[in-house]
Amino acid sequence: MNKIRKLIGGLGLLFKNPSLINLITDSEFYWKNYLNKYQNNLLQLQTVDISKLIENPSELNHYAFLGGGSLPTDIILLKSLSKKIPKCSYFEIGTWRGESVINVSETAKECFTLNLSEEDILAEGLPQKYADLHGILSKERKNITHLFGNTLTYDFGALGKKFDLIFIDGNHKYEFVKNDTEKVFSHLVHKESVVVWHDYASNPEKVRFDVLAGILDGLPKEKHANLYHVSNSLCAIYYPEELESKSIDFPIQPNKLFTVKIQAKEI
Ligand SMILES: C[S@@+](CC[C@H](N)C(=O)[O-])C[C@H]1O[C@@H](n2cnc3c(N)ncnc32)[C@H](O)[C@@H]1O
Repeated sequence: MNKIRKLIGGLGLLFKNPSLINLITDSEFYWKNYLNKYQNNLLQLQTVDISKLIENPSELNHYAFLGGGSLPTDIILLKSLSKKIPKCSYFEIGTWRGESVINVSETAKECFTLNLSEEDILAEGLPQKYADLHGILSKERKNITHLFGNTLTYDFGALGKKFDLIFIDGNHKYEFVKNDTEKVFSHLVHKESVVVWHDYASNPEKVRFDVLAGILDGLPKEKHANLYHVSNSLCAIYYPEELESKSIDFPIQPNKLFTVKIQAKEI
């Protein structure tokens, strides 16, 4: 009886405010169902151990510990990958304060970072102060080029360039992840390129089904076998060679500990 009353109440609310349907279509339940139906029940990627991909020890010199950025391990992953590639050319979707790109610029030869323009950000009703903070950490760096545009309409082909390492970290809604993945794989990759997606997981042990669906639907099917989750991070990775990996049962019993030393300096 209680459930029926809830259902009738819910339908009444939905009728008065149809946009409430987004609560269902953005829900974990919806995307889990979607993956069950369209991706053969694939709810997580094989995991590759982060120690196989990062330099040990490694450090970050520009980390703000603020909102909207990446985990230290995510950025260490990018920095280490770019260090391994001679004269690495890095492309990023999603600049925000410039934290990921400023760190990678220490090990890559050249970096390009694309973000919505100030006008686009203000047009979304977001505050001027938020718009002004974009690129605050990266804009003075010589080997970083800041590009502006919306990935839905941006002409990636006009760049006329391929990149060794690409980080997809813009809007994390399904449509954008799918769009960004398709565009990156149509215009920016060469045979050896490595692609990293942020927010594949909301914490290192919890997959975001909407983002996973966007990655799988945007990536050509024959490349799915080269997709992995990177342990201890929020990242998924496309690696052009096969990597040793395993299926993980969450929650995890830790098999390694990291040393974290923090030193803050005023800027
Ligand atoms: C999560 S933040 C990026 C964080 C950054 N990579 C880091 O780790 O420091 C996402 C950024 O993507 C930008 N963005 C969102 N949708 C976009 C789109 N469609 N095209 C380009 N940039 C977008 C936002 O303005 C925001 O600055």
